[in-house]
Amino acid sequence: MTKKKPLVVVTRKLPDVVETRMRELFDARLNVTDAPMSPAELVEAVRTADVLVPTVTDKIDAPLLAQAGENLRLIANFGNGVDNIDVQTALSRGITVTNTPGVLTEDTADMTMALILAVARRIAEGARVIPDETWNGWSPTWMLGHRITGKRLGIVGMGRIGQALARRAKAFGLQVHYHNRRRVAAAIEEALEATYWDSLDQMLARMDVVSVNCPHTPATYHLLSARRLKLLKRDAIVVNTARGEIIDENALTRMLEAGEIAGAGLDVFEHEPAISPRTLKLARQHKVVVLPHMGSATIEGRVDMGEKVIVNIKTFMDGHRPPDRVLPAML
Ligand code: 8YV
Repeated sequence: MTKKKPLVVVTRKLPDVVETRMRELFDARLNVTDAPMSPAELVEAVRTADVLVPTVTDKIDAPLLAQAGENLRLIANFGNGVDNIDVQTALSRGITVTNTPGVLTEDTADMTMALILAVARRIAEGARVIPDETWNGWSPTWMLGHRITGKRLGIVGMGRIGQALARRAKAFGLQVHYHNRRRVAAAIEEALEATYWDSLDQMLARMDVVSVNCPHTPATYHLLSARRLKLLKRDAIVVNTARGEIIDENALTRMLEAGEIAGAGLDVFEHEPAISPRTLKLARQHKVVVLPHMGSATIEGRVDMGEKVIVNIKTFMDGHRPPDRVLPAML
């Protein structure tokens, strides 16, 4: 007798090759239109599925999990960050949670470096000039940005992405500084020529560029608080490709409006996908470079993420420990 295939509900459209493979392996309920699921559809999904495959756009919170059916044993998140899921509640209900670490590290680090360059060298602003037909030709004092070589970059969160950013930054001649819950191994520090700061406050006060690369957890919510942002130098820039909630966006906005810091590059927002009118205004004034959460958006990355999701489901369904289990210690 052949084993019944698990019912796997996927909340968003995934790359074709991933969906094809899922159809072969599972009883896959896919979202071909890619419309985000309504609350009622999510309830229906957790009630019926054996496995749920959500993304950052789905809030899998305690009230939703309270309505989960007996069959729901695995939440295989399509994404690295799991702040969209109440993992503690899921685990307490005996539901395993997995994510997709590692495969979006390089792409996200690339985008972080791109944002640093975009803000410092005014790339987004400059890219408008020719399409807008406002260019009158070269001038020695026009459209001047700031050199990044020799400047100090402070990385908040020296995990995989932080280290991948540090490698790039080093190649661009930036001096690498970092703050992390734990100091990284001496060999890594040495290879990156990275300086560790136990005190985030002290690091922030001395950096030219600050990049947020830590996960969003209860401990990192508003880690860059209004008080901490005030410690930054007036000519500092802030870049965030992690999660909007890690920065007090209101306070950052206020400082950008007042010219109390030089600029910001944001790929993520506190109330995503909503963007505050003030942020929008700053973007139109070229005081902030904003991207629509596309740090890991490469086709290669998305396929790799899909493959990770499949491996996690498959190993779990075969009765083994999935490779990318999210453990309480990680939260
Ligand atoms: C993904 C991300 O696009 O994986 C993450 O944590 O922030 C993004 O790069 C998204 O999470 C997919 O769910």
